[in-house]
Amino acid sequence: MLRRVLLAAAASQRIRHLTTTAPLARDVVKRFVAGNTAADALAVTERLLAEGLSVTIDYLGEDTVEVDQAATVASEYVTLLELLAAAGLTVGGRAEVSVKPTAVGLGLPEHGNKTAAENIARICRAAKAAGTTVTVDMEDHTRIEATLRLVDELRQDFPDVGCVIQSYLRRSPGDCQALAVTGSRVRLCKGAYQAPDGVALAARSEVDRNFARCMRILLDGPGYPMLATHDPRLVAIAKSRAATIGREPTSFEYQMLYGIRTDEQAALAAEGAQVRVYVPYGNDWYGYFMRRLAERPANLTFFLRAIASRH
Ligand code: FDA
Repeated sequence: MLRRVLLAAAASQRIRHLTTTAPLARDVVKRFVAGNTAADALAVTERLLAEGLSVTIDYLGEDTVEVDQAATVASEYVTLLELLAAAGLTVGGRAEVSVKPTAVGLGLPEHGNKTAAENIARICRAAKAAGTTVTVDMEDHTRIEATLRLVDELRQDFPDVGCVIQSYLRRSPGDCQALAVTGSRVRLCKGAYQAPDGVALAARSEVDRNFARCMRILLDGPGYPMLATHDPRLVAIAKSRAATIGREPTSFEYQMLYGIRTDEQAALAAEGAQVRVYVPYGNDWYGYFMRRLAERPANLTFFLRAIASRH
């Protein structure tokens, strides 16, 4: 119930205004967001790489409604990739980027698919020049078909572009089957948005079971699975399956969000696993932050306490 309320709030302009102008919000948000600027993201990336982790950087923003804004977001990614390469952080793909299709135009009233495809292709070219990769994030269920099509087309020119499958969707095992092919990079996560019952699984236990099922399809296939979860039970299942089928630690990776279960990130890396941290930066943190609150009510208590303590 609370999750539904918070995810609905994530889409509310009024609550967005109240939250983002609260004097203390920024301090609490810092736990999940690297900072406002590309320089902040670079500093965090340097630190995480030095700790033996890899990184995927997200320039925060979504649901862009203007063509110019979509192009500006793409330009920010291009600059970011140039900065990462100049700092030597893209070597071996250790720092890559994650892009939300609606941040670069997918939801525009006209020519959304074309605009997003052109902007992501531009980012992919910059990533290729920098020696690294792009992963296309998956957003709410209304964007799935368009996003999968977009990735499929991008793969013609950029075979290493990654995509995301969400295990809360009933359709996902089928999508994993289709994507478990040589050369494909697939991030598997539970899914962070609201979706109707016919489309999504309602019970957490079902979502977890579907994750395990999808994970098995991906691990057993010839592609490159990117297992994005903080759930210790699912990580244990992944380890056990990888050991059973003899998957090399370099042939798949775990992914976790910046600021969440950092001990586990370090522990997995120390065991020799590849671990990539999703590092968001930028001013437009509201939607991302609200989804993190929805995932864990304790975060909401922490947030409200921090605000109350300053009044
Ligand atoms: P679950 O929510 O069950 O959490 C398991 C445990 O992890 C919790 O008990 C807690 O210990 C810890 N935890 C999880 N979330 C926490 C939080 N917010 N604060 C504190 N602790 C927390 N989604 C999507 O729809 N599209 C996408 O493209 C992506 N991309 C993506 C990339 C990466 C690298 C990750 C890790 C996640 C995503 N997600 C995403 C988000 C994903 O769908 C999901 O909402 C979160 O990862 C939480 O799910 P878990 O699998 O961690 O399980």
